[in-house]
Amino acid sequence: MLEGIGRIAWCPSTPSVFGMTRIPLSSAPEPHETGRCRHRAWVEVSTEAIRANAANLREMLAAETELMAVVKADGYGHGAVPVAKAALAGGASCFGVATLAEGVQLRRAGMSSPVLVLGNLTQVEELRSCLRWQLMPTISSMREALLCQNLADGSGRRMAVQLKLDTGMARLGADWQEGARMVAALQDLEAIQLAGLYSHLADADADPQSDAGLTRLQHRRFEEVLASLQQQQLESGCRHLANSAGTLSGRHHHYDMVRVGLALYGHAPAPHLAKVVPLQPAMQVHARVTLIRSVAAGVGVSYGHGFRTTRPSRLAVVAIGYADGVPRLLSNRLEVVHRGQRLPQVGAITMDQLVVDATEAPGLEVGAVVTLLGEQGGVAITPAEWSERCGTIPWEILCGFKHRLPRLGLAPGESGAAKNEPED
Ligand SMILES: Cc1ncc(COP(=O)(O)O)c(C=O)c1O
Repeated sequence: MLEGIGRIAWCPSTPSVFGMTRIPLSSAPEPHETGRCRHRAWVEVSTEAIRANAANLREMLAAETELMAVVKADGYGHGAVPVAKAALAGGASCFGVATLAEGVQLRRAGMSSPVLVLGNLTQVEELRSCLRWQLMPTISSMREALLCQNLADGSGRRMAVQLKLDTGMARLGADWQEGARMVAALQDLEAIQLAGLYSHLADADADPQSDAGLTRLQHRRFEEVLASLQQQQLESGCRHLANSAGTLSGRHHHYDMVRVGLALYGHAPAPHLAKVVPLQPAMQVHARVTLIRSVAAGVGVSYGHGFRTTRPSRLAVVAIGYADGVPRLLSNRLEVVHRGQRLPQVGAITMDQLVVDATEAPGLEVGAVVTLLGEQGGVAITPAEWSERCGTIPWEILCGFKHRLPRLGLAPGESGAAKNEPED
């Protein structure tokens, strides 16, 4: 008998709705809630890989340079809290998040290290929560600085903030030419403590052989601001510029701290930076085969018949789709791995499923696990391979996996997006 079939309850006495038999409801946990179940698809996270990556990154920094673990977007899809704990164990000393909710999530999980909110908080209530939870907001203009001053004034404690300068990204940050003036103005606000001054590189992963002009320009502008602060004897606190690419491309970008995201998760931001420190991918994505069908040559597969078999074929249906985070743009361009063999995905990727041509894999059966990202049998598929094939970047691939996919390898409840609840 097939595993599990004998366990389905058949309840002839219960009323039927639309011809389907009602199953009596039970409060007992479902198998997928207890972790006993054979999941249809899942993300596997190695916190040990995160710890090791943090330790290797830490090793390339000068002793006095701090390592900030960027854990925004639920730790790039890996789970912000377990990533933060593992990064701390590997030598990170503080965290970067994008939103207030992400910062509060770390605090609620008992993380007491400094947290910098990299996004702009514009509402008084958001900044009040920062004060309460001791999260450092990023200041891009005097407007936010004055809001912080008003909030902290009379609260009995100074509010730590960091000033961001735009040196060439044209996104957040005050104009770099205003840098020294802004620092001086912030120093005059007694309820504020300027804990840091930073900028963000727009093109640090560019190959220096072809073009690193923008990075050099941003670096020079940052240096000019720092020189002018020194001349005026103005203190700015912790100075930082580098993301993963900036960190891996040289110590001249490191200053007092580096802010590392992608490399912490085990991926180099560009091929020419792949060998600077050993990095282990921390995420794997696997799914199960749920049906095998044999079809003749000339059969159209999936919506729109975007693929047609050219020979009698063995097709395997795999239980993962674009609603789980596999981009539909990868249709007919994706491969999966089974026991070291790459198998082509065929036809349109659908919301919950995709089809693989398993003609060359007679051993692939229903229930088998195929690997979409990560390694199986010595063959690996990387987020960079996906992103090259569908015209995006590895960052977006990693952040794209939805919470419908259980995160295995983490303690129960350790992954899940930060709740966007209003703060009391
Ligand atoms: C301000 C800032 N610093 C650092 C990072 C980390 O970047 P990466 O993942 O390339 O290391 C990000 C990510 O987008 C960021 O926005």
